[in-house]
Amino acid sequence: QAYNERESLYIALNFAKDFFVNNLKSEEGRAIGLSYFKERGFSQAIIEKFDLGYTLEGWDHLLKAAKAAGHSEEILLKAGLILQKEGDPSRLYDRFRGRVTFTIHNLGGKPIGFGARILTQDKKQPKYINSPETEVYHKSDVLYGMFQAKKSIREKDNCYLVEGYTDVVSLHLSGIENVVASSGTSLTENQIKLIKRFTDNVTVLFDGDAAGIKASLRGIDMLLEGGLNVKAVVFPDGDDPDSYSRKVGSEVFNAYLTSHAQDFIAFKIGLHAEEASNDPVKRADLIKQVVLSLSKIPDPIIRTVYIRQSANLLEIDEEIIQVELNKIILKVQ
Ligand code: UTP
Ligand code: MN
Ligand code: MN
Ligand code: MN
Ligand code: MN
Repeated sequence: QAYNERESLYIALNFAKDFFVNNLKSEEGRAIGLSYFKERGFSQAIIEKFDLGYTLEGWDHLLKAAKAAGHSEEILLKAGLILQKEGDPSRLYDRFRGRVTFTIHNLGGKPIGFGARILTQDKKQPKYINSPETEVYHKSDVLYGMFQAKKSIREKDNCYLVEGYTDVVSLHLSGIENVVASSGTSLTENQIKLIKRFTDNVTVLFDGDAAGIKASLRGIDMLLEGGLNVKAVVFPDGDDPDSYSRKVGSEVFNAYLTSHAQDFIAFKIGLHAEEASNDPVKRADLIKQVVLSLSKIPDPIIRTVYIRQSANLLEIDEEIIQVELNKIILKVQ
């Protein structure tokens, strides 16, 4: 039977998914991969729901099995599953080795790529190795977990946005299914459009470290520009949604999300409140930052509501904000 290239890629990626999932049942997979997931509190059901897997130690377990099953080297290369040896391109080897795998699905549930996490503390190797861009995996169009989340996002009319694969899985373990991950890169316009197909409301749950806060500030402005209503939850320093939910348990975690969700203005102001309270220069800077976010909101009515709220929180006149806002808006036009 003749398949076109895209179909062949999907079939090869599905084969790899099954292979990685089944590796978890092997002796090595149980001892290393499965015990790693169990240590993180992942249940059998969640492992199956997310097609979590394991890639055996060794250079070519997948390559051999896939070839034996009739997949061509060309397709395996184009699927991002294998690599050519530098300087000797005829020598092929598996991209993912001795790691646990997170299957990345498209909206229809087909595997299109993988994120593979290291199991040791080896700082010389990257924590995650990810599939490259391929004909069927356009990273800028995909949010991890959307296939498992889309129904719940519609029902709850809200989408939690986290940084990592494990945060998505952990939230499901806490009974929260309306969650997707940006996978540690900055948001794209297409990813924001994807969310907008299901809801207008996003709650950003980024890591409670400097990098996470910086990323959420950037993400928030992009989401505002996309016309979404944005809230954010800040986690204690050093925690991400996964580590925090494991620390406090799902009940406290759920309550925390509800009680700590701030709209983006309160979030921004909160970040700088202390330093801005007794430093006029910093205070002026904070006002400019808030105004900058306000300028991203395309809907004038929503913008007006937020202007009022910002004025209250910053304890200044609405007029002042409006004047600053007009400067930016006039500059853009
Ligand atoms: P984090 O470093 O916060 O990892 O990166 P994590 O998701 O919390 O993973 P654990 O809990 O340490 O296992 C957030 C996301 O950034 C991407 C991954 O998608 C990761 O989930 N990332 C991170 C990479 O692609 N490569 C890396 O080396 C690190
Ligand atoms: Mn594309
Ligand atoms: Mn982080
Ligand atoms: Mn993290
Ligand atoms: Mn983590």
